[in-house]
Amino acid sequence: MRILAIDTSCDESCAAIVDTDTWTLRSDIVLSHVSHMKAYGGIVPEVASREHLKALPIAVDQALDTASVQLSEIDHIAVTHRPGLIGALLVGLTYGKSLAYALGIPFSTIDHIHSHLFSPLLATLEGKQVPAFPWIALVVSGGHTELFHVKSATDFQWLGGTLDDAAGEAFDKIGKLLGLEYPAGPAIDKWVRAEAADSDRTHFDFPRSHPSANDFSYSGLKTSVLNQLAKIKSPTDAARLTLAASAQEAIVDPLVDRLRSCQKQFDVAQIVVAGGVACNSRLREKLPDAYFPIPKHCSDNAAMVGLRAALLHRAGQLPIAPLNASPSAFSELH
Ligand code: KG4
Ligand code: ZN
Repeated sequence: MRILAIDTSCDESCAAIVDTDTWTLRSDIVLSHVSHMKAYGGIVPEVASREHLKALPIAVDQALDTASVQLSEIDHIAVTHRPGLIGALLVGLTYGKSLAYALGIPFSTIDHIHSHLFSPLLATLEGKQVPAFPWIALVVSGGHTELFHVKSATDFQWLGGTLDDAAGEAFDKIGKLLGLEYPAGPAIDKWVRAEAADSDRTHFDFPRSHPSANDFSYSGLKTSVLNQLAKIKSPTDAARLTLAASAQEAIVDPLVDRLRSCQKQFDVAQIVVAGGVACNSRLREKLPDAYFPIPKHCSDNAAMVGLRAALLHRAGQLPIAPLNASPSAFSELH
């Protein structure tokens, strides 16, 4: 089966083709709209929807061209339906549904968090080794910070998640306070890695909030950085760097703590981390034994959507009744 996968949950129009017979990724196109968001200092949902309208057909064409596949050779269309920006999701969902109807082929809807969760298995599509189950997995992105106990590709349990801001959102919002461009996560990471000393990382003892056992909370950290910044009259670059370095520690530490405590609680050896924030070099440094997908597979892409559909298809569980778009996460969460 050749699956055309589509993801428009945030500010990238993504299309990919996965072949379940040869178990290969035939193409993986990501057209980012981040440059349109920089002027606003963050994502404007309506701008994202309009950019998807223009870019998604181009992404699909490029995915077909790269794979040297005709539209008539596609057997199934899989589209992200939740969670994400509702207008943006609807563009992908309506496009995918219409295309499937016109082609007379089946169509299914896929959860974006589940796609990130199993993105470590994308390496199997390149014939590479991946960590064996069970995993303690963290999906950490601009919209989510969720922990799972994963026993197989179809058997997993949600353990906890953020009560307010996601870790990526904390990076982006704190970076904005410090005058960095959106998305500030990669910018903070790069700046701190290149220029900060160990003393910068420990200079400000920002709160590491400890809500219930496996949960996270980052809204207090954002306020602490804001309060600290207000105390400094005209912050120098050095002061901003110290704030960035200390804030990064305060974002990363709870992620590492929770992963380690779940590892102990469930007696699971393998930790995997996925989602955009899994690109963070400090997080990778603090979890040397964990598995991280390559950066391209951590941030949003449709290859992971195609893989999720392929895994469900292999297990005989690919949903045949497509669901509507929804901004919120799957019902087991929260
Ligand atoms: O998974 P993703 O591409 O989109 C969502 O589903 O949210 O994640 C994007 C998030 C942004 O908040 C971005 O700032 C963050 O991932 N991010 C990073 C790094 N690279 C991306 N945060 C910290 N360090 C990085 N290197
Ligand atoms: Zn994502």
